[in-house]
Amino acid sequence: MDYTATLLSNGIIVFIGGRETNDFLDVDINQLVLYDTTIDKWSSMTARGVILENRNGHSAILTPDERIIIFGGCKGYNETILNQLAVLNTKTYPYEWSIPQVSALNSAPPSIQLHSATLIENYMFINFGRNYQMQNSDLQKPFFYILDIRNFTWVIQFEPEQSPVTTNSVTPIATVSIINTSSTNTSNLTAEKSGQIGIILGAVGLSVVIITVAGFLGYKFYKKQKYNRAIPTAGQIQT
Ligand SMILES: *[C@@H]1O[C@H](CO)[C@@H](O)[C@H](O)[C@H]1NC(C)=O
Repeated sequence: MDYTATLLSNGIIVFIGGRETNDFLDVDINQLVLYDTTIDKWSSMTARGVILENRNGHSAILTPDERIIIFGGCKGYNETILNQLAVLNTKTYPYEWSIPQVSALNSAPPSIQLHSATLIENYMFINFGRNYQMQNSDLQKPFFYILDIRNFTWVIQFEPEQSPVTTNSVTPIATVSIINTSSTNTSNLTAEKSGQIGIILGAVGLSVVIITVAGFLGYKFYKKQKYNRAIPTAGQIQT
């Protein structure tokens, strides 16, 4: 379970990583399981290159030049993997793992697992999933990250090279809104706080006006009563 399956153009499906369903132990990611759909045969292959950390809940895409790029996942239940991105070259025999040099224009994704990965032109889109390092409400977010697979740079914007035929002239553009829990929460809190302060100030101001008017009217009423009482009326005997 929690492995990836990628169909190469030659009809071979490459199964990568994941864990066993009976004991939940990660399978050896350097030991690839292959299924040749043209001859209906299973086989296995030990990949060469770097020895990768095992992982489950990762994702995989196939590039036009038949490299498989995997991303994310975790070791065991919630152990962080050091190299979230890895590349399997299927043009060599045996296949070869490598770890690319990754950079980010703004921010790289956190540790994500059980997400989706989609290749569009030269960009790998990482969406949804969960962050096993965060707690409760922060665990699942609509993660949205874009990787330029030409130089393994996490970018913040994507514009298609060939605009799809659209009825209007608007070119679709995807932009990443950075999900930075600390900063967004802080700004939300600040906005919320200033709104609350505004309401409190307004309420205090209104109270002051009401008390002043009531006090003034009350004073006038009291004075009039006093005056009325002071005027002797007919029939009253002053002593
Ligand atoms: C990555 O490659 C793209 C396309 O060649 C280029 O526009 C971009 O500047 C490169 N980014 C970095 C960080 O080198």
